[in-house]
Amino acid sequence: MGNVLIAGDLHGNTGHALNVVQAAVRNDCSRVFVVGDFGAWEHMPSGKRYFDVVDKAARKAGVPVYFLDGNHDKSSLLHEMYDEQRDDEGFLRCRRNVRYAPRGHRWTWEGTTFAAFGGARSTDKGWRLAREARTREQDLRRRRYGSARVRASAGTLWFPEEEMTDDELAELLCADASPVDIVLTHDKPRASNPKFNRKDRPECFPNQDRIQEVVETLRPGVLFHGHLHYRYTELIACGGAGWTRVEGLASDPESAAHPSYSIEQSWFVLSLPHTTAEVAEPAAG
Ligand SMILES: [Fe+2]
Ligand SMILES: [Fe+2]
Repeated sequence: MGNVLIAGDLHGNTGHALNVVQAAVRNDCSRVFVVGDFGAWEHMPSGKRYFDVVDKAARKAGVPVYFLDGNHDKSSLLHEMYDEQRDDEGFLRCRRNVRYAPRGHRWTWEGTTFAAFGGARSTDKGWRLAREARTREQDLRRRRYGSARVRASAGTLWFPEEEMTDDELAELLCADASPVDIVLTHDKPRASNPKFNRKDRPECFPNQDRIQEVVETLRPGVLFHGHLHYRYTELIACGGAGWTRVEGLASDPESAAHPSYSIEQSWFVLSLPHTTAEVAEPAAG
């Protein structure tokens, strides 16, 4: 048992994934939990290799790696491949030491209750769809000249399941609306207001609103998220007199954009047990 290293987006970056596992060992953590954009791309051979490498590193370190889905994870394939392979805590066993927390999943570690809600809107959706279309066109042209090579294109760069739907969220909250200590998400709640990469875009608001609804329903003491690739801490109201501390985590170095980035900003050592104490209202000013 012991602490958990909560990590920001990895984007399939093997070198960074290995650094995260080593950081967990250094910080006396017995688990890693990645808050989305993990790099779940098993529709490609390189994606399968990535899972294998992370699994091996996690096994050698004795630190299993858990993750929820970001907008850049093919979660439909995770369900297709691993829905029937659940561990005792209900995680999907992708590998012995690599496990997926599906949307709405709840569990308890060291007396601390957790819930995970993956998904987000890709702001580069148009670019990704255009790349997929270009691959399709290239293959059609090649076939006209006799090539038998046809590559999969749809669902390789942009995943239609990337954000929660309203119905999906309503069903999850209807199934269990009881409070938890910690919420793990990929997207930020609408009310948090980081100074960088806030994704203040109308197409991003619906999913941010859904995460806000999760906060106001489950009223966690702390919410960890990724997606913005930026480290910040902020208190937001979670209904009644309660407050939730939001911890946004930075990403792997290749996807980092903020000039003050350092690798330590991409993880947070969560000491367990961490049960929700009343968080004081922030002072005005
Ligand atoms: Fe993301
Ligand atoms: Fe990301």
